[in-house]
Amino acid sequence: MKASLLSILIISGVSCKNNQKDYEKEDNQLITLNEYRFKDLNKNGELDLYEDSRLTIEERVKDLIDKLNDEEKASLLIGIGMPGFDWETMQFMAGADLGKVPGAAGGTHKIKRLGIPSVIVADGPAGLRINPERDNDTITYYATAFPVGTALASTWNEKLINNVGKAIGNEVKEYGVDVLLGPGMNIHRNPLCGRNFEYYSEDPMLSGKIAAAIINGIQSNGVGTSVKHFVANNQERNRMGINAHVSERAMREIYLRGFEITVKNAQPWTIMSSYNFVNGTYTSSSKDLLTTILRDEWGFKGLVMTDWFGGYNNSGFNPNILKNEVSDVTKQLTAGNDLLMPGLTKQKESIIKNIKNGNLTNEAIDTNLKRILELVLKSPAMNNYKYSNKPNLKEHAEVTRQVAAEATILLKNDNNTLPFNSKSSSLAVFGNTTYNFIAGGTGSGDVNEAYTVSLIEGLTNAGFSIDKELESKYLPYVKEQNIKEMARREKEGGLLAVPKRIPELELDKSTIQNKANSSEIALITIGRNAGESGDREITNDFNLAKDEINLINNVSEAFHAKGKKVVVILNIGGVIETASWKDKVDAILLPWQPGQEGGNSVADVITGKVNPSGKLTMTFPVNYEDAAATKNWIGAPAENPTSVTYEEGIYVGYRYFNTFNVKPSYEFGYGLSYTSFDYSNLTLSSKTFTDKISISVTITNTGKTAGKEVAELYLSAPEKSIDKPREELKAFGKTNLLQPGESQTITLTLNTKDLASFIPNKNAWIVDAGTYKVLVGTSSLNIKQKAQFSIENELIVEKTNPTLALDLQFTDLKH
Ligand code: BGC
Repeated sequence: MKASLLSILIISGVSCKNNQKDYEKEDNQLITLNEYRFKDLNKNGELDLYEDSRLTIEERVKDLIDKLNDEEKASLLIGIGMPGFDWETMQFMAGADLGKVPGAAGGTHKIKRLGIPSVIVADGPAGLRINPERDNDTITYYATAFPVGTALASTWNEKLINNVGKAIGNEVKEYGVDVLLGPGMNIHRNPLCGRNFEYYSEDPMLSGKIAAAIINGIQSNGVGTSVKHFVANNQERNRMGINAHVSERAMREIYLRGFEITVKNAQPWTIMSSYNFVNGTYTSSSKDLLTTILRDEWGFKGLVMTDWFGGYNNSGFNPNILKNEVSDVTKQLTAGNDLLMPGLTKQKESIIKNIKNGNLTNEAIDTNLKRILELVLKSPAMNNYKYSNKPNLKEHAEVTRQVAAEATILLKNDNNTLPFNSKSSSLAVFGNTTYNFIAGGTGSGDVNEAYTVSLIEGLTNAGFSIDKELESKYLPYVKEQNIKEMARREKEGGLLAVPKRIPELELDKSTIQNKANSSEIALITIGRNAGESGDREITNDFNLAKDEINLINNVSEAFHAKGKKVVVILNIGGVIETASWKDKVDAILLPWQPGQEGGNSVADVITGKVNPSGKLTMTFPVNYEDAAATKNWIGAPAENPTSVTYEEGIYVGYRYFNTFNVKPSYEFGYGLSYTSFDYSNLTLSSKTFTDKISISVTITNTGKTAGKEVAELYLSAPEKSIDKPREELKAFGKTNLLQPGESQTITLTLNTKDLASFIPNKNAWIVDAGTYKVLVGTSSLNIKQKAQFSIENELIVEKTNPTLALDLQFTDLKH
């Protein structure tokens, strides 16, 4: 009551005292809230309570729910379907009404009689995905393709990512959309997950911080986000039917932790539950996940929606299943999954039936409705926002160019091969992907951008000339192969068809030899694409294909014989094998899938206009099999797995490699620069910890080029109550652009939860007593400064509820 009074005081815009008697001043009349409530505004043709924006959203929602009938309630609890989609043909119908924003993924129902509009939701996460063209319309509706999630996280720069969020949010709002379906923040459990490119990292803290930064940016526009896919959607194979068996500790420390950080730091308007089961329960039906953990423990305030057809065991989106079956709506709604997307008629019928037979109580659905209506009332649609359909795409192209350059990771740079700026000869550029750069992955995460700058275009823009003979061989080949590949994909499922690699153009050795004579340097691009509904393979994907190895071998031999250098550019969305070939080349640049300005961004790094400062957000193993999580990858039976056991427990990514001393090809947190940095003065605010500790470190640019560095703080905790990883990332900070000789002191703070481990048999996050080692470095294996602090007595940070009981007995890996 207090909060609502206060907000009325603010909204009414007149000077009022904080006193119930004179909170509102209208026609110079002071009335009480109760008088106001019972004043029948409607009789005078005025506002209903829910329409009165001077009231709090809570009060308006309450009034609105009282006015809804069962049919309207059921409509609001399911989405509007996919506008224009025909379930018979599984195609969008030609000429069909695609709704307010064609290409959006769905929305909520409008209630015309009450003036409640439909709220529009559209994918994400690398930018807004809507149709770029509309029937009978000459205007275009392109959106900016930003770098994929993995690339964004590789910047380790929350401020920059917040700016990307602001730009994306502006496009969402200006194209008439209310909620972006992103960011995606599942953990990179295994390098082969087909959607890893959409996700940030194998580390939950880094994922949580980056997600919070982008959400705060997007939502600063007054539009919403949907953080997805909650949770443990770590594979695409049978994603709608796979039962992930995960211990409560691994869930809380690894798979849930990033979401927790995000919820607490950014309050996303919505969260999307995932398709899979966790320990025998669909996440969209899990009260443990959606109510106990998400709301009661973390304080999430928004709504939860299902993923599209979540709750149907139907990986191929079989129309017969969708037409004839119905998800367990009662279980989903009462678990805290408020909105069923995209919404099917059968679900609505089932909701009405269950309201009538008492399985769905009014109390339960009113809670769901309250969350839905709260979102509707604060949406641009409700406020009748006059969107322009003209976001500033030019300005956003600059944003994406800048962030993609900062996301680029320099994996290798022998003898300062890069930067390279000589324009005295034309560049010999090899690899199909150089000529057809990949901006981002496929599936719902794909963006319809107006253009993609290829690497040859970017290099040309930077003033290089490209070898014409190579260009004349590659361009027609790539074009022809690309047309074939697009036609194949169109036939095999369109947006959801898994992309296939185009084999490298075969070049005879004499052609390569000639280029080694005429060009000063060789660039080779290796490309990879993947996307929703399929995972990657080990052969010819994680491992390079024979034609790619041949290309690297032949080019390296020819150029090295002439004393010339070879640079490999990895235009990829996920981890690949590098150990077997990295010694053959002089430099390796990893720009990931860098968005629509990719070619320009990479050229900026090659020329040295931008000094690379990206760092790996995951481990690059020597062999695919090296990580513990690969032992139980995909589950069983292999062809159509129904069950997967996360036996590696918390030992995901570097937590496994570092603790079990498995040497990676490139470790978590790794990334070089054109300059060098010195770390000094590691200082702790105290030698003993009570509830917080500040750690500062000074970073000095000791090289000759301006650059940025990421200070990565790892913590090695005593292992009294449970086994723990050797070290874990607990904080990070990025410097400004430091000029040669310039220093900056970075201060990082750790709180009690950062020190704690989850102890399952105590249902608590506990900090062990003992000595904690603070390790600050430039990667997880390159620690520059160390210090320690101690804790006298064990601290119980947080008691949790018993949740997520196993439906299959197994024990987590321990060291
Ligand atoms: C994807 C989601 C996406 C939704 C709507 C699903 O297939 O898993 O990430 O937001 O479709 O397009």
